[in-house]
Amino acid sequence: MKDDFGRNIRYLRLSVTDLCQMRCLYCMPAEGVQKLEHDSILTVEECIEVCRVCAELGVNKIRLTGGEPLVRRGIVDICRGIARIPGVEELCITTNGLLLPKYAADLKAAGVTRVNLSLDTLDPEKLRRITRTGNVTDVLAGLEAAEKYFGHTKINSVLIGGINDDITDMVALTRDRDIEVRFIELMPIGECSDWPEERFVSAEAILKRVPQLEYIGDKGVSMLYQVPGWKGRVGLIRPMSHKFCSACDRIRITADGKLKPCLHSATEIPLKGLHGEELKNTVASAIKAKPQSHLMDETHHSDSLRGMSGIGG
Ligand code: 5AD
Ligand code: SF4
Repeated sequence: MKDDFGRNIRYLRLSVTDLCQMRCLYCMPAEGVQKLEHDSILTVEECIEVCRVCAELGVNKIRLTGGEPLVRRGIVDICRGIARIPGVEELCITTNGLLLPKYAADLKAAGVTRVNLSLDTLDPEKLRRITRTGNVTDVLAGLEAAEKYFGHTKINSVLIGGINDDITDMVALTRDRDIEVRFIELMPIGECSDWPEERFVSAEAILKRVPQLEYIGDKGVSMLYQVPGWKGRVGLIRPMSHKFCSACDRIRITADGKLKPCLHSATEIPLKGLHGEELKNTVASAIKAKPQSHLMDETHHSDSLRGMSGIGG
């Protein structure tokens, strides 16, 4: 269905847990997040029901996020239930990859169409610094599992000025593999909302570091590049330097069942406990009232009340 600004809402991002094995600097405090009360989390059935309602209202693409979605108990059942909903054409997962060697086959069989992997650097020490606990070898094992079961795989890499802004090795991943490495501008939300200016680098500036990259076109929110003759591609996602609010087709639901019509707004509509027509009407009016755009820029950080660990990007 369309919102009040004529945008056709087709994409739901559902967070299925706010927990994660990693502690990325920009996403979580070192000690992790306060675990949500078990009773406040959407159950497996509620996750599926809310997706069904969204599909009835025109959503055709659903992405499961976290925290880390694969640590959620019942994740394969959630996927199987969602994949069967009429109208759901794409079911994707954004994951840190650690549990993919264990789950990729089951997720594929359950009807997941694609996985995106988060990986900010291939340098073992830098990865440890960014994730506080992560290990490159384990993430790369996840990447292999993703490629084996899902083929073409996208990697999301958040750019942090002064830490992982040398992108040469990440770009080199695209030489022989059908991978799309997407560099994402860091957004001032949650943990990193008061980080110093030098941590926020524009994707375009970073691109200059690999002059062989040629622009090949735009796809959705990303600008695509390729080194001529290489198998994979490079994408730039620029939420900071280029707002895409006017073309935004997405809504988000947090693990505790709050619908966020905009990532960066404080507005949250509670869905937990609602069913049937009441649930559908509530989701429909939340879609209609989606804000026209966010107010975030170099001087104003996100108005979201929670950080990424509770929303999932
Ligand atoms: N800015 C941009 N991307 C972020 N992510 C988490 N926090 C931020 C932020 N502040 C990304 C993660 C992952 C996805 C879940 O969201 O790197 O790819
Ligand atoms: Fe975990 Fe992803 Fe947050 Fe890192 S960014 S702590 S991998 S949820």
